[in-house]
Amino acid sequence: MSKTKNQKLLDWVAEVRAMCKPDDVQWVDGSTAEYDRLMQEMVDCGAAIKLNEKKHPNSFLFRSDPSDVARVEGRTYIASRKQEDAGPTNNWIDPVELKKTMSKLYDGCMKGRTMYVIPFSMGPIGSPIAKIGIEITDSPYVVDNMHIMTRVGDKVLETLGDDGEFIPCLHSIGAPLEDGQEDVAWPCAPLDKKYIAHFPEENLIWSFGSGYGGNALLGKKCLALRIASNMARREGWMAEHMLILRLTNPAGKQFHIAAAFPSACGKTNLAMLQPTIEGWKCECIGDDIAWMKIGPDGRLYAINPEAGFFGVAPGTSMDTNPMAMLTLKSNSIFTNCALTDDNSIWWEDMGVECEHAIDWKGNEWTPDSGEKAAHPNSRFTAPARQCPVICEDWENPAGVPIDVFVFGGRRSAVVPLVTQAYDFDHGVYMGATAASEATAAALDVKAAMRRDPYAMTPFCGYNMADYFAHWFEMGDALGDKAPKCFYVNWFRKTEDGKWLWPGYGENSRVLKWMCERVDGTADAVDTPIGMIPTPDGLDTTGLNITDEELSQLLEVDVEQWKDEIPLVEEFFQKFGDKLPERMRIQFANLVERLDA
Ligand code: OXD
Ligand code: MN
Repeated sequence: MSKTKNQKLLDWVAEVRAMCKPDDVQWVDGSTAEYDRLMQEMVDCGAAIKLNEKKHPNSFLFRSDPSDVARVEGRTYIASRKQEDAGPTNNWIDPVELKKTMSKLYDGCMKGRTMYVIPFSMGPIGSPIAKIGIEITDSPYVVDNMHIMTRVGDKVLETLGDDGEFIPCLHSIGAPLEDGQEDVAWPCAPLDKKYIAHFPEENLIWSFGSGYGGNALLGKKCLALRIASNMARREGWMAEHMLILRLTNPAGKQFHIAAAFPSACGKTNLAMLQPTIEGWKCECIGDDIAWMKIGPDGRLYAINPEAGFFGVAPGTSMDTNPMAMLTLKSNSIFTNCALTDDNSIWWEDMGVECEHAIDWKGNEWTPDSGEKAAHPNSRFTAPARQCPVICEDWENPAGVPIDVFVFGGRRSAVVPLVTQAYDFDHGVYMGATAASEATAAALDVKAAMRRDPYAMTPFCGYNMADYFAHWFEMGDALGDKAPKCFYVNWFRKTEDGKWLWPGYGENSRVLKWMCERVDGTADAVDTPIGMIPTPDGLDTTGLNITDEELSQLLEVDVEQWKDEIPLVEEFFQKFGDKLPERMRIQFANLVERLDA
């Protein structure tokens, strides 16, 4: 039964019900009892496996269909009225045509299933930066994941009120059940029927055919990035693919950092970093998305719109990210991880050996199987509040003031450990030209190196050239209160392929330098690509690194950078006349500095 009198919402739910024809409709109330009941139903029907209660209390494993394991960028659409408004980095279909195609797919698509209506808030309920969405889905797996990833249920409906605005997010796994037809553990539709569609002019999301991650948990990439980036542009704020962290120096001064990295660059690790330098403290506010608005004092305030972490499991260990390991200890959902003989979970590079397991496809596995036990994009869904280093202000409705923007990517050569932009416009250029070597988070991206502006390529819901312009405009609005911009590359290697930088907790040394640059207490050297630390600028106390390694890490090889110039030029050509003049100026300035 619905507890809302919001007519717009009631009408939309009725319309979707008539189209999708579920057997039943349930309004999600957000209670623990509801979460438990749905989970039990999924265990009973074989969709979920309850894990060892001692090792992972109240936690469950799911195995997806092998065809449904990641975001499908090739089937993700920005259906703006004009193709130009989607821009060269997005797939576009005419919205009228797409609605026609998808309405046919939605017709009767929930037969034999329950339709759940999930009221959810992205951001602390009632925060001036938060937004309300309503996800309709036929997947109980989605409902329980949304319980963890967002704030859901009655309290959201109360805040919505009778005439509040919401973002409608329609999701179906696209697998109706005929009378008597037996269900499978992970129902979904084939790839050519999958659509992850965004109608930015209507703030509307339609997703069909996939039950996995960002394709199905519509608050995350669909709402909080693709639709929110459109809203942010219209309303003068920012929706970014950024982690948020607080660093506190030994004197107790706080700095807030928002950092953008493409997937597979250790973003969740950095968000939960444990500093190795004396007296510095680091706390996590968010690991994936930042919504930022200019506050009354003219500074930029950020909230994490999410309430949980949907992290990549493989590679997460007590060495690489102990805070994540402690976060996911209980009350978590695991998808496509391996199941051990004692009913616990395992994945590659977990830091413990595993001799025998059931792999993510449900098959017997040993280290000799020649296949991965966990899918490379296997995930944990864990409540953010369980993170031992979650910041006390992580749910502060006002957000936290951002001092530093960090961009980055995974580059084994060319790009130094850290570079500071000369000014905000230069920072916008750095973010726009960020590039990274391949990732497993998307199913269909095969390119070895991908230019990924602000790590937003798959997530910017409008023309990326207009997005660049929006960044410049935000810089103008912030003036001298704009965050300082930096570019990092933790992944530089020697010529014989060894990592030059230890990474993980040691990255705190680089963050410390940034804070000191904000304070004006650390020195830098000007180079053609930006400012880098002086040889003794980075605190390397207690670090086992030679002067030679350090200078290799910070090296700016002008010839190598000149080789990058045609690549940047080619990339910018994609945007034609729409590329902001200020970006051309930044590019010309860089070329001039390299030629000097
Ligand atoms: C993710 C990503 O967060 O791919 O899943 O960026
Ligand atoms: Mn992400």
